[in-house]
Amino acid sequence: MALSATPLTPTHAALLVFSTLAIIALVRPTRRSPKDTGTSDDTIALSAHSSDVVPGVLALIGNTPLVRVNSLSDALGVEILGKAEFLNPGGSVKDRVALQIITEAERRGEIRPGSRVFEGTSGSTGISIAMVAKAKGYDATIVMPDDTAVEKMRSVEAFGATVERVRPASIVDRRQYVNRAKHLAREYGPLGYFADQFENHANFHAHITGTAPEIWKQTKGEIDAFISGAGTGGTIAGVGRYLKDRLPDVRVVLADCQGSGLYNKVKHGVMYSDRESEGTRRRHQVDTVVEGIGLNRLTANVELGLPAIDDAFRVSDAEAVAMARHVASHDGLLLGSSSAVNLVACCKLVNKTQWRGTKRTIVTILCDSGSRHFSKFWNDDYLQKIDIPVNSGLVESLLRP
Ligand SMILES: Cc1ncc(COP(=O)(O)O)c(C=O)c1O
Repeated sequence: MALSATPLTPTHAALLVFSTLAIIALVRPTRRSPKDTGTSDDTIALSAHSSDVVPGVLALIGNTPLVRVNSLSDALGVEILGKAEFLNPGGSVKDRVALQIITEAERRGEIRPGSRVFEGTSGSTGISIAMVAKAKGYDATIVMPDDTAVEKMRSVEAFGATVERVRPASIVDRRQYVNRAKHLAREYGPLGYFADQFENHANFHAHITGTAPEIWKQTKGEIDAFISGAGTGGTIAGVGRYLKDRLPDVRVVLADCQGSGLYNKVKHGVMYSDRESEGTRRRHQVDTVVEGIGLNRLTANVELGLPAIDDAFRVSDAEAVAMARHVASHDGLLLGSSSAVNLVACCKLVNKTQWRGTKRTIVTILCDSGSRHFSKFWNDDYLQKIDIPVNSGLVESLLRP
């Protein structure tokens, strides 16, 4: 059962979007060596970046730094490096995907002046599509399940895109958000374009041509594992395949949230989640408080990634909640739910492989900021209502030798 979340006023939401953009412009640092954890040159790094002039917001997408997650790295004796995707101008890794989808469609002539882009999304992609569409002069309509954190809906609206909220439903239901967006695009006529992040290979291309080569360069190819959740599968497919092609021994690992069937697909070849059993689900789609990842169907982008995935870890909502609080209070990193899932899986990999103390390098994705999740994942009252404990002991037990 989805419980209603505390609403944001439109003014607060607009302030949130614009303050995030302002913070990004001010604090986005120049890249450092991944193992340099020093803090003394922060001011120099900031001023170096702020001297750049870029030709519009789209030029701020990508080229994100890798940030060492100090508390986890120090406790485990490995290098856990997070790709700081929350620094993208639309606030998430999905900016790359939106830019790639729209640019490829423009090249094919499927998006042109007067076009409206339609997408069905549980949040981040909608914000990114709205931002990229507006920056390029197009309209956008975003269909979202109505249990998505309200902050995300307000951000889409702040860009002037149209939002349609629908009841969460199964993918076989024509009112499901992806199906509804596809239908609206078709109904709109020749100027309607369905972005289709789940099936569109442009999603995979964004990562294999962008995120992955950046990680390769930043680590100088010294990488032992890459860990990511999958929402559409684009990130793990694009980065996983790029790395595997160059380093067959690199471990590509799926971080799967509760309620998702992908863990079983990777480990046992069958897509199944026990939380999907009849009568046990609290939410439609994927039964978790985590937003953006988890799947119970195979998408084109997941299929591209499956051959590259070596292992998978399940992460409970309680573990993700604990990890987000841990890195906020120990590292000053305010992260969203899928980033927290990724970091829990990093710790589980170290414990399973006995990499503790070996200084191996594990790269993961810090997909978006916790400020996108104040009404649910970062709302202790809300979590209490849906029986998710806030228990820091869960992280301590992952870090304990
Ligand atoms: C916040 C967040 N994290 C992670 C992901 C997963 O990325 P991918 O779709 O590439 O699997 C998404 C996807 O929507 C997301 O919104």
